[in-house]
Amino acid sequence: MAVRRLAPKELQPASFAFSDENLAWAKERIAKYPERRQASAVIPILWRAQEQVGGWLPEAAIRTVADMLDMPYIRVLEVATFYTQFQLQPVGKKAHVQVCGTTPCQLRGASELIALCKRRIHHDPFHVSADGDFSWEEVECLGACVNAPMVLIGKDTYEDLTTESFGKVLDGLAAGKPPKPGPQNGRQFSAPIDGITTLKTDVAANAGAKPAKEPVVADAEAKKPGEAANTQERPAPKPPSGDATAKTS
Ligand code: FES
Repeated sequence: MAVRRLAPKELQPASFAFSDENLAWAKERIAKYPERRQASAVIPILWRAQEQVGGWLPEAAIRTVADMLDMPYIRVLEVATFYTQFQLQPVGKKAHVQVCGTTPCQLRGASELIALCKRRIHHDPFHVSADGDFSWEEVECLGACVNAPMVLIGKDTYEDLTTESFGKVLDGLAAGKPPKPGPQNGRQFSAPIDGITTLKTDVAANAGAKPAKEPVVADAEAKKPGEAANTQERPAPKPPSGDATAKTS
């Protein structure tokens, strides 16, 4: 884990102000919390500030958010320096790649993904590539271990990666056509790639049908690129066809 410090003074802009659109969004967000509890909005508002700046948080943005929420600067600085979702120095214009380097991802090839970052982006983490488009870092577990190895880019995760498929992800981002987030080996979420592996006999016997290999959630219902994670699970998963326990009406 790298030491997380603010960017040096020569990189810091003199001031920060939310755009009108983002300010209206932030006020709406703050209003969701009871009086004197506005500090609870600190993470989403910091995130919006980071998006506006271009992927990182200058000190002026941290101070602006603290003033908006009536919080001591040090409290907001603590949040910004604790969570690795916040970047404290300029990042690549097209993508900042966070590679999970924790044990399950290491066992499944994370070190090859990091080697690719070193070759294609910069030898060292937190350095912007020569064209200014990419940067990378290694982070701790991002909660998608079952689809290891994986990377997080902005709001999107790319999972079940190989050196080849990760290279294609970087190619797509470089060309302005980011590939669809999620598993890059063709499977649905974390479902077995060859179809269901349990209850096969019972399902077939009770329903008189072959076990379904079709996905329980269609691609069209999956997470949309660039959208927040909490918008990805709206469709209720459907039971597999042929599931004898499913209600019929
Ligand atoms: S170990 Fe990589 S996502 Fe958990």
